[in-house]
Amino acid sequence: MHEESLGKPITLAFDVYGTLIDTHGVVVALEKHVGVKAPDFSRIWREKQLEYSFRRGLMQNYENFARCTSDALDYTSTFFKVFLSEKDKQDLLNVYKVLPAFDDVKEGLERAVEYGFKIFAFSNGSADAVETLLKHAGIRDYFLGVVSVDEIKSFKPNPGVYCHFLRKAGATGANAWLISSNPFDVIGALSAGMKAVWIKRSPEALFDPWGIKPTLTVKSLLDLAGQIEIHEFF
Ligand code: 2OP
Repeated sequence: MHEESLGKPITLAFDVYGTLIDTHGVVVALEKHVGVKAPDFSRIWREKQLEYSFRRGLMQNYENFARCTSDALDYTSTFFKVFLSEKDKQDLLNVYKVLPAFDDVKEGLERAVEYGFKIFAFSNGSADAVETLLKHAGIRDYFLGVVSVDEIKSFKPNPGVYCHFLRKAGATGANAWLISSNPFDVIGALSAGMKAVWIKRSPEALFDPWGIKPTLTVKSLLDLAGQIEIHEFF
């Protein structure tokens, strides 16, 4: 394990939705409304949420990530021809505020802290929403802080949001890594001069064929700290 006294503290920026927190944790709550279609509903809801964030970023028409989530829910319920009352919608959006962490997260973060890495949460979500999620999942105390794109009113993968992260964390691209399961986020961070790990939990997960490769790919957060240590110091 490395010593910070060597003068090379390494900063890790953990993506939140889809990396630490399982956005498909909402499937059980959706079953009551769409039965066996719940996994498909959840997938399209998530895809639309991200699409809306990309479009709002490009159009410079910022509304926060919770608005993208809520608008995407409206789209998806119309797409599936399912009526959701205002209360149903609010209940589903409340589930989204307390989604569960993936199984490997607690121990993976614990190891990253033990290795001496400076760790932050870095998300499209507002700081309040991320604080609530991390506290609910019992993982808030591992992080030195939460950095949200909301502070500069744009979304990933605008290069400005990665620069904002580096400034807030007191890091440079050469000593900072983005940790994400979302390929668009990995490519965004690499393009902005950071290193990046792709967390590929499922063998079916695909990386975009843009000719840009993650610095490292790992199957589980349990392997993360050890692999970064080897890359940086051996
Ligand atoms: C996050 O920023 C990309 O949704 C992902 O948390």
